Amino acid sequence: MFWKRQKQPEDARGSNGLYQHGNAELIQLHRVVKTFDTAAGKFNALRDVDLRVDASEFLAVIGKSGSGKSTLINMIAGIDRPTSGEVFVGNTAVHKLNEGQMAVWRGKNLGIVFQFFQLLPTLTLVENVMLPMDFCNVHKSDERPKYAMRLLEQMEMADHAHKLPSAISGGQQQRVAIARALANDPPILLADEPTGNLDSKTADSVFELFEDLVKQGKTILMVTHDHDLAKRVTRAVQIVDGEVIEKGLADAFPTLTSEQLVAFTRRVDPEHYAPGAIILQRGAPVEHFHIVVRGRVEIVIAQSDGAEKVVATYARGNYFGEVELLRGGTSIATARAASDAPVEVLRLDRATFAQMMEQAPELQAHIARIAQERVTENVAAQKGGA
Ligand SMILES: Nc1ncnc2c1ncn2[C@@H]1O[C@H](COP(=O)(O)OP(=O)(O)O)[C@@H](O)[C@H]1O
Ligand SMILES: [Mg+2]
Repeated sequence: MFWKRQKQPEDARGSNGLYQHGNAELIQLHRVVKTFDTAAGKFNALRDVDLRVDASEFLAVIGKSGSGKSTLINMIAGIDRPTSGEVFVGNTAVHKLNEGQMAVWRGKNLGIVFQFFQLLPTLTLVENVMLPMDFCNVHKSDERPKYAMRLLEQMEMADHAHKLPSAISGGQQQRVAIARALANDPPILLADEPTGNLDSKTADSVFELFEDLVKQGKTILMVTHDHDLAKRVTRAVQIVDGEVIEKGLADAFPTLTSEQLVAFTRRVDPEHYAPGAIILQRGAPVEHFHIVVRGRVEIVIAQSDGAEKVVATYARGNYFGEVELLRGGTSIATARAASDAPVEVLRLDRATFAQMMEQAPELQAHIARIAQERVTENVAAQKGGA
């Protein structure tokens, strides 16, 4: 599971500013532009998109119709190519693969699920699941039926294995489409509105399947219109007119303009912590502003009698580190992931935090006020132990 993963050294980028590969960042888009030629002229569907997705993340991609979500997924899937920029998946430069290499690479590394399930109508369900196996040679041919049945079992569809797609419901067809996407046991699943054509109960069960797959170590990118589902994933990004905004940043700071959000999104560093892990040690230098996007963060102080005390618990949308960044000095408290669940935070470095404060005076005033309150509370809590 993702919180067991080793963190990579801070700066995974080379001196040329390009990414080095083979690190925890499984998917990387670097300055991706996609321009379509239309009757009305050139249209930029993606504008200079940077995106990093770590292994075992469950990333939701949200945004209005026509904002560029499918185009983004297609860049990663190699279904379409960027006009400029780079797409890396693991160590593979996807944008450089030729058609033949692309098909083989995709078959082994990606499972793709669409809104309309796209099962072949003349093949039985188990035959549909075996189809990608025959193409990729990952499983020995005599083992394919057994493996396909196992995937159908996992999707609770084994009883229907020998039916045709037309004999089952839409939700069931989507389960089979997911089984097919998993045929070659790919590390990554790309899903473009997989629940868009399902009722909410069925959508929920498909979503739960995805959650299970993430727990098993898969990395999933899911385009969705469903904001409730988007809240349950590791992280969400929003596409706005071909640009990417980190949803956790937008939710925490709704007064920032979309240009500001796009600019600061480029500087955001998502970090994952295991349950109970220390995020910031009391007394350590503070170099980052942290925004919680998932899980709960406990703020712990040592009282004057030495006992530790949880003085606050922060959840989605709360932030910390601002006291030290505004006032200087080392961390006034320890921040650690609560013991019940992993934590996801967005970090902004000191310079970016300073820029944000400078560009958004109202936000600066708000954050300064919170910092003041927290300092006062901390002093009171520390005395409380005597
Ligand atoms: N092949 C294409 N030719 C021209 N325009 C396209 C093409 N594909 C997508 N677009 C345009 O790019 C924009 C983004 O499309 P898309 O990524 O499909 O949006 P979304 O998935 O967010 O609804 C839309 O305005 C769409 O019309
Ligand atoms: Mg789309």
